[in-house]
Amino acid sequence: MNEHDSERMAGILEAQGFIPAASADDAEMVILNTCSIRDKAEQKFYSELGRLAHLKSRSGKEVTIAVAGCIAQQEGEKLLSRTPSVDMVIGPSDIARLSAMIEKNRNSGTPVVETDGDPEYHQRLVPASRSDGLKAWVSIMYGCDNFCTYCVVPYLRGRERSRPPRDIIAEARGLGEQGYREVTLLGQNVNSYGKGLEDDCTFPELLRMMQDVDGIERIRFVTSHPRDLSDALIGAIRDLAKVCESIHLPVQSGADRVLALMNRRYTSAEYLDTVRKLRNAVPDMAITTDIIVGFPGETADDFACTMQLLQEVEYDNIFAFKYSQRPHTKALGLPGHLAEEVKEERLAQVLELQKGISLRKNEQHIGSVQEVLVEGASKKGGMLTGRTRGNKAANFIGPAHLRGSFVDVRITTAGPNSLSGELCE
Ligand code: 5AD
Ligand code: SF4
Repeated sequence: MNEHDSERMAGILEAQGFIPAASADDAEMVILNTCSIRDKAEQKFYSELGRLAHLKSRSGKEVTIAVAGCIAQQEGEKLLSRTPSVDMVIGPSDIARLSAMIEKNRNSGTPVVETDGDPEYHQRLVPASRSDGLKAWVSIMYGCDNFCTYCVVPYLRGRERSRPPRDIIAEARGLGEQGYREVTLLGQNVNSYGKGLEDDCTFPELLRMMQDVDGIERIRFVTSHPRDLSDALIGAIRDLAKVCESIHLPVQSGADRVLALMNRRYTSAEYLDTVRKLRNAVPDMAITTDIIVGFPGETADDFACTMQLLQEVEYDNIFAFKYSQRPHTKALGLPGHLAEEVKEERLAQVLELQKGISLRKNEQHIGSVQEVLVEGASKKGGMLTGRTRGNKAANFIGPAHLRGSFVDVRITTAGPNSLSGELCE
């Protein structure tokens, strides 16, 4: 989401005649697009801002420093007093105002802050500067209404708003015409797409429209909230040839008590039932998830339920995080915040468990033939790399001109993070 916001800001700048600098140190303008989902992301930003501010004051160079994204939204004007080198502060729903802000900053010579949130943002056509040429992100909705008690997103990205389907399809058609082959539809909770739209359109209906876009051969989407994963959506994934057999379905915890405290509005049994339905409909569905360890009050037994759930589901991959205290959120006020060491220990345990599961899941692919969209040279010398429909990296030997094409690869070896194989004739 955040990276795509950066593409959009770059799109606006390029339309104004800016060109990308080789590095931040050479630039006339630097935009730090920030994330505040966890404290670590925030700390990374402050150290980079400090570095740039130092560079600016030391060299006396005329460089404009802008802060965008969720920390911009969270801190607003406060960023200016904290770091006098900051010239612009722009919230995630104010991106379309970037040109006007630059103009205002140049004319006035004083800092400009825009964090009110543009009420029409979801209806604006914002250009995006994409460099990949094959795989593109397309936003379909902004914001989130779920208010999971640990999460800052609803406070910073605002209420859920869906982009009109015609704008999404037009953007996807344009990408298809430019030679893009894969689109990932983006939203905090794509399954509830369509709320408040003038013309009714549900997420499964949007997928059906995407299926008809020429040139785009693969459709993915993130993120799905387990509670909103409807039978209609499962049917669409099963029936639509371009929709890939891969889903990110964040569970967060395996303990019902913790899930309730998190306000996730499902139990582990309901979640497992959804997974069962998905796998019944689409047997080779790859499933990934997000896990938070050390949520306030998480007992050893609660944590054991998470470990148990990981073993039961056997995810293809997981993203696991230590619970991090976030401003505004309800979880801040819950009793039983855990010591850092406990969180670290639990994180290490889930990662260790998953490493074995990921390896086993990948080894199940050995001998199979996978359709791979070739992305180019792999980091390992002399090989090409691409992704399977299940979104696994697959490496193989082949000629460079295959970039951008779909090839069949027979899988011969597997590691926890990737597959390797041979190009089929
Ligand atoms: N602490 C730790 N992880 C968090 N996430 C969201 N908020 C927090 C937090 N306060 C994780 C969730 C979510 C992913 C994007 O980030 O697992 O699914
Ligand atoms: Fe945050 Fe929950 Fe919304 Fe995801 S669904 S963005 S975790 S509030």
